[in-house]
Amino acid sequence: MTQQIKSFDDYKAVYQKSVEDPEGFWAEQASTFTWRKQWDKVLDWNFTEPNVNWFVGGKLNITENCLDRHLETRGDQVAILFEPNDADAENITYTYKELHAEVCKAANALKANGIGKGDRVCFYMPMVPELAIGVLACARIGAIHSVVFAGFSAQALADRIKDATCKAVICSDYNSRGTKNIPVKKVVDDALSMDCDSIEMVLVHKNTGGELNMVSGRDKWWHDEVDGQSTACEAEEMDSEDMLFILYTSGSTGKPKGVVHTCGGYMVYTKYSFENVFQYQEGDIYWCTADIGWITGHSYIVYGPLLAGATTVMFEGVPTYPDAGRFWQTCEKLKVNQFYTAPTAIRALMAQGDQHVTKYDLSSLKVLGSVGEPINEEAWEWYHELVGKKNCPIVDTWWQTETGGIMIGGLGEHSPMKPAHAGYPLPGIQPCLMDADGKELEGNDIEGLLCVKYPWPSMLRTTYGDHERCRQTYFSAFENLYFTGDGARRDKDGMYRIIGRVDDVINVSGHRMGTAEVENAINEHELVVESAVVGYPHDIKGQGIYAYVIVSGDIEDEDAFRKELIQVVVKEIGPIAKPDKIQIVSGLPKTRSGKIMRRILRKVASGDTSNLGDTSTLLNPEVVDEIKDTALV
Ligand code: WT7
Repeated sequence: MTQQIKSFDDYKAVYQKSVEDPEGFWAEQASTFTWRKQWDKVLDWNFTEPNVNWFVGGKLNITENCLDRHLETRGDQVAILFEPNDADAENITYTYKELHAEVCKAANALKANGIGKGDRVCFYMPMVPELAIGVLACARIGAIHSVVFAGFSAQALADRIKDATCKAVICSDYNSRGTKNIPVKKVVDDALSMDCDSIEMVLVHKNTGGELNMVSGRDKWWHDEVDGQSTACEAEEMDSEDMLFILYTSGSTGKPKGVVHTCGGYMVYTKYSFENVFQYQEGDIYWCTADIGWITGHSYIVYGPLLAGATTVMFEGVPTYPDAGRFWQTCEKLKVNQFYTAPTAIRALMAQGDQHVTKYDLSSLKVLGSVGEPINEEAWEWYHELVGKKNCPIVDTWWQTETGGIMIGGLGEHSPMKPAHAGYPLPGIQPCLMDADGKELEGNDIEGLLCVKYPWPSMLRTTYGDHERCRQTYFSAFENLYFTGDGARRDKDGMYRIIGRVDDVINVSGHRMGTAEVENAINEHELVVESAVVGYPHDIKGQGIYAYVIVSGDIEDEDAFRKELIQVVVKEIGPIAKPDKIQIVSGLPKTRSGKIMRRILRKVASGDTSNLGDTSTLLNPEVVDEIKDTALV
């Protein structure tokens, strides 16, 4: 195990060392792993191109570190503890030995089907062990995984398959979520009918076993391909900077971008951050409730915990099935020690009443984590008092798909905590706050744009197929800095409080959504002339989606029209992008140069029409009154 930080003073000393000698610090962390060949140079970088290389010349395979390395010391320890959707079903476990064998079998099956190093493989699956096994099988043979959250639509899936020119899709037949049995393979069929020419194979895992259409020559069963394979598969030797995976995320403009993470640095950082933030101890049971379709699942369900030799829980279901006590019932049953979830889930469960929590024995819990959006004070207090009985530190972890791992957050019980504050940067992370003119704000008790000054091992390397977009999005706003897109405060004690996105990205239930993406979807409706989407404060979701829509002609039945619009968004993106409110307007407030004044739209959507500022210079000031009068608040 990595040396874990053991007190706040210890943190301060380690942090100091990590910024004075970053290369020495990370070389020391990296030396705790199995390398086929030691790196020649720890770091080579510039933020102008950008071009960042960690552990240059090092050779490794991340699965040897997740699996093989543990066989001797913990082969019979549970690696994956699977909690199925059905609360009464038996838990399924994979020990490190068993997981190693399954990953090798799946890796051999992929190879037998012509998939090899550098090929892209798309996953569209529920939270079942085969998803983790499949992802690791790719990593074993050097294929690049691109996991697409199984709530995205066929259109969104097709866009991602095409962008990465994937060679295969791995999916399930159906997904069980709560009382629903969702036909997932059908979505894949629909996606593949949209010119996904690169796909040669669809590998289908039989999950619930419903009716299915198998296309001969293209579609194969997981059990047919995997079950008979050998349980040994030599791991492919990868360069530190070879791609490990692509994960799509939304930005402020255009289509989602494929964030690229590479093998060596990602490995070092996810394990280090996992062990320190959660203060994982030998024998602990760790549970992160995220979906592997998001970065949280990649880094803190699969890679980080397995690299650390932890027991990681994978949960197939939803927090409210069979009732709103499912999380706590499961914590009691599995004796969970570290629990990591999102504020939106906490708020939703909080609204269902305390009785769902108090009836369970939660004494096994040691650390509670939060991720994805700012956690408001009320939710923080409830989590701390009701779930943690005031005995568990809350680690509020700020990070992004692009950062690969947790950047700012507590280290178990060793960091001071304050509700709604993520706190201090992890060792090796050098955040700074900038003003809009590009000047760094020094000292404490200040607010600015959150940037990072120095590379860290798990940072993104590029956006797939479009390096210029990566440069433009993250490295062009401020010279020599990585720009996060978030605004933040550094309080009098030097603790960071994340305020939220400063770009046209909204955060709905901890899911990132580009407003332009939702607008593009809405505009697909034949009666829509133009639309503008903004976020507004929402009690459960954090932010809700508010759409202003200009239509052509008269709409007879507005409710029916709204339903149609929602359907279009579900078809183009998926249910997570459904607008909560749709206001039909005759115009959108625009500047003389034709730019939509989103500031005004955001204020109206939040129910605050008191001070809209000077609207007289607008191209169409009269539209502001109309928008105010017909606002849906
Ligand atoms: C954006 C990144 C990182 C995994 C999940 C989301 C917001 C994330 C926090 C937090 C306040 C947070 C930021 C960030 N965010 N964690 N603890 N406090 N805001 O990953 O989809 O890449 O979204 O989520 O705005 O930029 P993501």
